[in-house]
Amino acid sequence: MSLSFSSENSFSGLNQKGMVIWLFGLSGSGKTTISTLLKEKLEKEGFFTVTLDGDVLRSGINKDLGFSESDRAENIRRAAEIAKLMLTNNIITICSFITPLKDHRTLAAEIIGKEYFEVYLDCPLAICQERDVKGLYKNAGLNLIKNFTGVSAKFEPAINANLMIETHKESPVESRDKVFAEIISKICLFA
Ligand code: ADX
Repeated sequence: MSLSFSSENSFSGLNQKGMVIWLFGLSGSGKTTISTLLKEKLEKEGFFTVTLDGDVLRSGINKDLGFSESDRAENIRRAAEIAKLMLTNNIITICSFITPLKDHRTLAAEIIGKEYFEVYLDCPLAICQERDVKGLYKNAGLNLIKNFTGVSAKFEPAINANLMIETHKESPVESRDKVFAEIISKICLFA
């Protein structure tokens, strides 16, 4: 028996449309929490997903980058290029990056194209500082960390994201469900 392989990658075997869900907002706004919950839900529904997270990429492929505006732009460029590769393989990718500047978001949107779906996790700085899950705001306040987003580095709030969620006004599951409701028709093949 001979198997023949086509060089074309038109059929991925995945029963879904690829999409990139780009979660952004201040450190502590809930990006990783919502990304994890969303991945779990999508997998239960039978979708294949990949997550890309700022802290994870920065511990590996992006470990040469710091937090200047240009290093952040390069961090976002690489993440968006990876997400784009996933997209060409029909994979649903959930990205969690602070993505502080409008220019950074525009860059990601341009690289990814029409399947880019931007979700702004809008949470006041004071609440993120209070949560301080990683203790980073405390250190930033003591000037032990330079260029910390929201404290000593700029964060430009979004005005035209595809979806805005005020994460301090609802539970992470409620936020996850809002994202899910927006994307489900876009990832179903026969919707
Ligand atoms: S981004 O600005 O380039 O989009 P990214 O999401 O990859 O940032 O990384 C943010 C994470 O890096 C934070 O969640 C935090 O754990 C860590 N971090 C370390 N130093 C800083 C800093 N100066 N500003 C923001 N985040 C920092």
